[in-house]
Amino acid sequence: MPQRYQHDVLIIGSGAAGLSLALRLPTSLSIAVLSKGELTQGSTFWAQGGMAAVLDKDDTVESHVEDTMIAGVGLCHRDVVEFVVSQGAEVVEWLVSQGVEFDRRETPKHSEYHLTMEGGHSHRRVIHAADATGRAISEVLVEKTLARDNVEIFTDGVAVDLVTADGRCRGAYVLDRDSGEVNLFQARFVVLATGGASKAYLYTTNPDGASGDGIAIAWRAGCRVANMEFNQFHPTCLYHPRAKSFLITEALRGEGGRLQLPDGTRFMERFDERGELAPRDVVARAIDHEMKRTGSDCVYLDISHQPARFLQSHFPTVHRRCLDFGIDITREPIPVVPAAHYTCGGVLVDKRGQTDLPGLYAIGETACTGLHGANRMASNSLLECLVYARAAAGDIIAQMDDAPAPVAVPDWDESQVTDSDEDVVISHNWDEVRRFMWDYVGIVRTDKRLARARHRIDLLQEEIKEYYSNYKVSNDLLELRNLATVAELMINCAIARRESRGLHYTLDYPELDPEAGDTVLTPNGSLAQSQAQTKA
Ligand code: FAD
Ligand code: SIN
Repeated sequence: MPQRYQHDVLIIGSGAAGLSLALRLPTSLSIAVLSKGELTQGSTFWAQGGMAAVLDKDDTVESHVEDTMIAGVGLCHRDVVEFVVSQGAEVVEWLVSQGVEFDRRETPKHSEYHLTMEGGHSHRRVIHAADATGRAISEVLVEKTLARDNVEIFTDGVAVDLVTADGRCRGAYVLDRDSGEVNLFQARFVVLATGGASKAYLYTTNPDGASGDGIAIAWRAGCRVANMEFNQFHPTCLYHPRAKSFLITEALRGEGGRLQLPDGTRFMERFDERGELAPRDVVARAIDHEMKRTGSDCVYLDISHQPARFLQSHFPTVHRRCLDFGIDITREPIPVVPAAHYTCGGVLVDKRGQTDLPGLYAIGETACTGLHGANRMASNSLLECLVYARAAAGDIIAQMDDAPAPVAVPDWDESQVTDSDEDVVISHNWDEVRRFMWDYVGIVRTDKRLARARHRIDLLQEEIKEYYSNYKVSNDLLELRNLATVAELMINCAIARRESRGLHYTLDYPELDPEAGDTVLTPNGSLAQSQAQTKA
């Protein structure tokens, strides 16, 4: 039998954004947290490099703001960048107060945080826990959340769609993967913290589950979505037939790692004077160019000139994992290729994390806040998760007393559907979307490739809609449906942008427009209607 639940706040997602929000809310509120699988299943757990924050006495908020603006190629919203960056030290302090242990270094006078360097940053400002920062943060947030009596956790709870009534978000329908039932979760406030959409691409650094669910769910509920053409490709994912999605952290380049062709020649200086530490869009494009030019399957990242003990203590995860595949990073270069990594666009929100739908918030990678513009600077993502969780918590607390009382809403209706008899349709379509997204909507685009992708997604959407309306939902079917929606949004945004900027590079419009504008898509509009550009 389907269940009904009622909470003050429903948080969909248990990464850095979702769990820090749960912990920022007062214990007097009843909170439900959903996760599609284990609580540590999202991208947060896998974050390696660290979190950017101004902590060094010689660094300034202004400098972090400027670096972010430059990496975002004129599209970051300066007020948002200032809003986020100025809270860096506070959110680090909050994480430390929860129990997160970041690496420290001893100076002659005292102990201070060890800060590392990554692309686009003009200072060392990335605080980290060796090369497993996400794990350190995630484990503490999970432990603290589990200890909260006011938080009810639903692992294996997959949000299907939002429940709306009287122009307000009232909750969500949630598939229980164990029982197969779709339950009704009612709440005064709902928060989408479902992570990114990089699974839309065949090769990705992201864990399973990054299928853009929150973006697709918000879009279906009528919220605007922006800047989906800017999916970031991380330049250095381990290239090995048995390695699934293993990232080689950018901090390795921050500590002197050199990119080389198979014959050992370095090439980054030919593309950018910042060399290996240019922003990611530049480095990924340079690698893509060199791989195509030389016909090689990968390039190499060499850090073997650094002392072995330094590498083992700073990069234990990368060192160990590479050894598993027979690669000793203290002696030899690492084979690497770019892979889809981060969704810069998402559900359009304001500085409180509020979406277009009253009662609905979006935070973390699911949201488009205006921070990242056309290219996210390294390690600004965890920072954004924590700052927006704090902002949304403040807003929910302020509004709680005035939140409308719950209204009657219907249960999930399964009377017209049957069990699926052809799961192969799901796996085939899943594979097809990811493959054509990689081939046609990748690092280098053209009008022709985008038109092909558009044609393919139109056909697939028809088929998926028909399948969805006839069969009972499963996690795979829900992910496929969401993946197709986010792929369509990415394609539509890419078609709308007739210039090359940051992560969106097209051979047909290689120049940068003098005016920067976001690509904002509005549901239920044709592409032409939905091209509204707002000034950055
Ligand atoms: P996630 O951590 O991805 O969590 C998403 C949650 O939503 C999960 O709990 C998932 O189960 C749940 N969920 C999704 N859909 C549903 C649904 N339909 N119903 C219920 N629950 C759902 N950023 C940095 O700043 N620094 C780094 O060093 C860094 N390194 C990275 C390394 C890797 C390998 C990867 C993949 C990313 C890295 N990033 C880094 C990016 C950063 O980790 C993510 O952007 C960030 O952690 C996203 O956090 P989140 O809370 O928004 O989502
Ligand atoms: C990395 O460690 O290279 C990832 C950092 C990030 O995505 O911000």
